[in-house]
Amino acid sequence: MQALGSFFTCLFFLFSLLRISAATALSTITPSQHVRDGETLVSADGSYELGFFSPGKSKSRYVGIWYTDSTDAVVWVANRETPLRDSSGLLKLTEQGVLVLLLNSSNSIVWSSNSSRIAGNPVSQLLDSGNLVVQDGNETNPDNFLWQSFDYPCHTFLPKMKIGWDLVTGLDRYLSSWKSTEDPAPGEFLIRMDYRGLPQLLLMKGAKIHARAGSWNGLYLTGLGYGVREPNPISRTEFVLNKDEVYFEYSLRNTSVFSRFVLNPLGVGERFPWVYQTKSWELASTFLADRCESYALCGPFSSCSSNGNSPKCACLKGFVPKSLKDWNSGYWSDGCVVAVAMVTLQNVHA
Ligand SMILES: *[C@@H]1O[C@H](CO)[C@@H](O)[C@H](O)[C@H]1NC(C)=O
Ligand SMILES: *[C@@H]1O[C@H](CO)[C@@H](O)[C@H](O)[C@H]1NC(C)=O
Ligand SMILES: *[C@@H]1O[C@H](CO)[C@@H](O)[C@H](O)[C@H]1NC(C)=O
Ligand SMILES: *[C@@H]1O[C@H](CO)[C@@H](O)[C@H](O)[C@H]1NC(C)=O
Repeated sequence: MQALGSFFTCLFFLFSLLRISAATALSTITPSQHVRDGETLVSADGSYELGFFSPGKSKSRYVGIWYTDSTDAVVWVANRETPLRDSSGLLKLTEQGVLVLLLNSSNSIVWSSNSSRIAGNPVSQLLDSGNLVVQDGNETNPDNFLWQSFDYPCHTFLPKMKIGWDLVTGLDRYLSSWKSTEDPAPGEFLIRMDYRGLPQLLLMKGAKIHARAGSWNGLYLTGLGYGVREPNPISRTEFVLNKDEVYFEYSLRNTSVFSRFVLNPLGVGERFPWVYQTKSWELASTFLADRCESYALCGPFSSCSSNGNSPKCACLKGFVPKSLKDWNSGYWSDGCVVAVAMVTLQNVHA
């Protein structure tokens, strides 16, 4: 009996060794494993990789997920606000099913995922969609996650990701720009869903509405007018509204095509399809390239015409700028007022 026991112990060690030596090809981690700086986790189909990286010229180390073919196309970052200063970081999964990033040097926790449930047999996996998930290995429903990176988007909107609300838990999934191309900490701009009234997507600059992408009318977002309409041969956008959830998501019709939507540090949304022939990202469209889309740019009773990159506001017929001084300096948001009414008002005061 004991012999059999130690035989199994040996076998277990052998497997552990094999697993450790094959660490760079792993797509899952369990509580006995870890990913250290220099090692990566690769999704089963090889599309996405998770590992440590430094953006641009920065020396700080972050844990992120990127396209295997284009390591600079980082789609998600774990420790956005808590960069590591050296390469002693370790990404581990605890016995309770929480992902932790800690410093081997001091054993201090730098970042962690969270969950309202505890897993009996936790396993973390990088899926082919680029979603890093924590599951209970004993769970039979493959879509029942204890935690998923898709619930905490950074600056990239990937196919199958949701932008919007889980109305049951109150989880708000929104995009937030990086501070700069070398600092993934949350920057000034957000794309988030406002579900009051007719749900719409807003581009926020801090607490202010910068632009409205509008509501989904079944064919396109009303605030964009142009852009991706349905049906189209490339992607399929879905707007879901029910008592539990309200969100947007999109999927690509050809699953061997890659495309990402990034909210850049200047608040411009950019869509990049991956071009296999040139092995590069091609900028396909920008959101807010037309400044007339900016929220309340011209103010009430005015029109906006865009000529190239410089928009021009004009009062509607019969209206004059509310504040001529501001208007002439290029600040139009106060808009226009009825010309006649002003005259009458002056007469009353006179
Ligand atoms: C953690 O640091 C110790 C001491 O430098 C080292 O022996 C050990 O291999 C490190 N562990 C990992 C997982 O890198
Ligand atoms: C997980 O963390 C996020 C952000 O830190 C927090 O808003 C959320 O409430 C947490 N969720 C749970 C289940 O603890
Ligand atoms: C999970 O499954 C393993 C075997 O597959 C079993 O040993 C363990 O008790 C299970 N854990 C829970 C919490 O059900
Ligand atoms: C999908 O995209 C791949 C790569 O560009 C291409 O080779 C293939 O023909 C496409 N399939 C369809 C059905 O369009």
